[in-house]
Amino acid sequence: MSSISIIGTGNMARTIGTRAVGGGNTVEVMGRDQSKAADLAKALGGGATRGEWGAAPAGDIVIVALLYDGVVPVVAQYGDALAGKVIVDISNPFNSTFDGLAHREETSTAEEVAKAAPASASVVKAFNTVFRHVLEKGRPDVFIAGDNARAKTSVEAFIESLGLRPLDVGGLKMAHWLEGTGVVTVGLANHGVGNLDFSLSITELPVRANG
Ligand SMILES: NC(=O)c1ccc[n+]([C@@H]2O[C@H](COP(=O)([O-])OP(=O)(O)OC[C@H]3O[C@@H](n4cnc5c(N)ncnc54)[C@H](OP(=O)(O)O)[C@@H]3O)[C@@H](O)[C@H]2O)c1
Repeated sequence: MSSISIIGTGNMARTIGTRAVGGGNTVEVMGRDQSKAADLAKALGGGATRGEWGAAPAGDIVIVALLYDGVVPVVAQYGDALAGKVIVDISNPFNSTFDGLAHREETSTAEEVAKAAPASASVVKAFNTVFRHVLEKGRPDVFIAGDNARAKTSVEAFIESLGLRPLDVGGLKMAHWLEGTGVVTVGLANHGVGNLDFSLSITELPVRANG
């Protein structure tokens, strides 16, 4: 069981929170609108609580479920309150036409979060390649990236508690490409697949014996 704090009260906060409670995790909700945070905590049930915006989160894992342009400023605003925490960035920094990233250079929201967060915090990118309603109902693979092995192990355990398979794609610099993968999912939804009812997953072939 993990202890989770979710910063944000929107759709992804609700979906991840619901699955987190269902997986037996302890959940705290923090929102800039305190009443929305209280309402969401109540709706989640399972002993979920409302935390004070900007105060030290109760959870060891802090999921930042905000629109991408709010993520870095809010992490900076929390500042030392996030010391020692595992910060999970789930954002998709899409450009205005949803066919590219909003960044002007090869970075990621997750890497920018790592710069804004206390040195003792660890950042993991996760969940951004999965549409919300697929996360709600399905069993999608969840790709993750991060530099700290212990932080990734704790996020993997959390993802497994949701009944999902975490798949590590490498260090935090890979968050840029996970964010690019988010763009690919939107492209598939708009073109090849034509709807949002799918997720990217990995199919492994049986391992062949050498020789
Ligand atoms: N929806 C999906 O299918 C999906 C899938 C993968 C990843 N994501 C990512 O998940 C994140 C959340 O998406 P969502 O669908 O949950 O969005 P949402 O329903 O619009 O919720 C956004 C949340 O962010 C808060 N917020 C926005 N700007 C803020 C700021 N500057 N400071 C503080 N709080 C701020 C909002 O607070 P107020 O209510 O007070 O405005 C709200 O709680 C996004 O980064 C998105 O790219 C979404």
